[in-house]
Amino acid sequence: MGIVDFSLDGKVALVTGGSRGIGRVIALAFAEAGADVAVSSRKLPDLEAVAEEIRATGRKGLAVSSHIAKPEESKNLVETVQKEFGRIDILVNNAGTNPYLGPLIDAEEWVWDVTMNVNLKGPFILGQMAARVMRDQGGGNIINIVSTAGINPSMLHIYSVTKAALIMLTRVMAMEWGKHNIRANAIAPGMIKTRFSEALWKGTPAEDKLAMPEDIAGAALYLASDASRYVNGETVVISGAGG
Ligand SMILES: NC(=O)c1ccc[n+]([C@@H]2O[C@H](COP(=O)([O-])OP(=O)(O)OC[C@H]3O[C@@H](n4cnc5c(N)ncnc54)[C@H](OP(=O)(O)O)[C@@H]3O)[C@@H](O)[C@H]2O)c1
Repeated sequence: MGIVDFSLDGKVALVTGGSRGIGRVIALAFAEAGADVAVSSRKLPDLEAVAEEIRATGRKGLAVSSHIAKPEESKNLVETVQKEFGRIDILVNNAGTNPYLGPLIDAEEWVWDVTMNVNLKGPFILGQMAARVMRDQGGGNIINIVSTAGINPSMLHIYSVTKAALIMLTRVMAMEWGKHNIRANAIAPGMIKTRFSEALWKGTPAEDKLAMPEDIAGAALYLASDASRYVNGETVVISGAGG
């Protein structure tokens, strides 16, 4: 170990939305740093491919299909990771959605429900389940992926509201769970080149200059490791001064 400890040796991490984009790269960065990593999302074949990439780093990789807005599936996810890996040290609540791109004034009730359930209720329920495991094992670490759209109002309106609430949920988790040796922090990316944001950048002049998922993974490793042991309840903005 050097002066600063970025190692995740012996740790077990769970990354939701780990099948592609930001979640996949965070999962691989954690494995490179020494963690065994479980990835979850809805589609198992995509996850199996990432689990294979994790194993190629020499660490254990596990793929578990789980819809973040379905609490019974989150329960199964936590139980499966515990059964396979014995503990959960790091949870990255990364899965997120934005099912509607029209104006707020025309948004239907289902848009509110789906966006809230996936982006806010899901991370809360899974965070609570993981925190109980972390409390009982003596500590842990939660990272919630939010957005600059949760700091300033954006054209993604309801999505912005869910991410603003997730920033506050992160602070509340940190405040209450610090006594259990659990830290909770958030990362707020600006626009990153992934499938999620494709409708916003494809064919625009910005397409070739966008930030990549790799630009988020370093902050995730910092927050997951002991290098950030005194950082709790914070939101790290990564937007190239654009957010
Ligand atoms: N890209 C950006 O510009 C940007 C900016 C700020 C914040 N973010 C946030 O970053 C996070 C990751 O997004 P990304 O850009 O990496 O998107 P992405 O490449 O489209 O990946 C999204 C991931 O979430 C999973 N997912 C989607 N809905 C799910 C659900 N209901 N249950 C479980 N998993 C689900 C997807 O897999 P399945 O399809 O298999 O479920 C996939 O693994 C999101 O929270 C997003 O809000 C993105």
